[in-house]
Amino acid sequence: MGKERRDGWFTRRIMRLTCFEKRAMNSPKHARYTERTALALLAHVALPSQPRCLEIGCGQGALARLLVGRLNASVMATDFDPGQVAVAKERLADLGKRVEFRVVDARELPFDDAQFDVIFSFGVLHHIPRGWRRAVAEVARVLQPNGSFIFTDFFVPSFVGRFIALLFPRLDQLEETALKTCLADNGFHLEHYERGWCMLGLMRHCQAIARKG
Ligand SMILES: C[S@@+](CC[C@H](N)C(=O)[O-])C[C@H]1O[C@@H](n2cnc3c(N)ncnc32)[C@H](O)[C@@H]1O
Repeated sequence: MGKERRDGWFTRRIMRLTCFEKRAMNSPKHARYTERTALALLAHVALPSQPRCLEIGCGQGALARLLVGRLNASVMATDFDPGQVAVAKERLADLGKRVEFRVVDARELPFDDAQFDVIFSFGVLHHIPRGWRRAVAEVARVLQPNGSFIFTDFFVPSFVGRFIALLFPRLDQLEETALKTCLADNGFHLEHYERGWCMLGLMRHCQAIARKG
């Protein structure tokens, strides 16, 4: 919590979603979108049976449900926002002990080294403008060697990123090249990477699988 106080208003505002964002994120439509995206990504990766999965920024828990149903996984579902953890816990109550829920800041994962076979982050890193690099380093630390980091995220186009950096030099907004460099610096190599435009061409979207070397 001390760290959260040091974040400043703007960073906290981005990490804690607005009520409009939450309404969209917690909708059945978004759950279906999450499932489609996850299934498309899982088709590109071979995972151990009954994998130990960590999800950072679990939102309503749609991905955790899919991982239990499709992979017979045990899932640690975490989110920075206690309200979201409560939503996920309620919606996944029928899954019993297959899913554990914790309020966790992805920049400081309270887990041992190499504890998980797979780690998921769907649309989370761009919400951590001061600390997404620390989150990637933490993911690398708690992931097994040869484990997979499966993620999706959003970027502003690079000219917009440069403009934001001029206006807010202390802000480290997620940026595509910087993310790829950060992954490599933390021992990941990209096994699968897809990108496209979204929001009427205003943002880029990526979905990817990175393997810890
Ligand atoms: C756009 S939502 C995506 C939720 C979910 N992964 C999905 O695809 O529906 C981003 C989530 O990241 C969480 N989040 C933001 N900052 C975080 C942080 N520092 N650590 C962990 N989770 C964070 C938010 O609370 C929110 O639930």
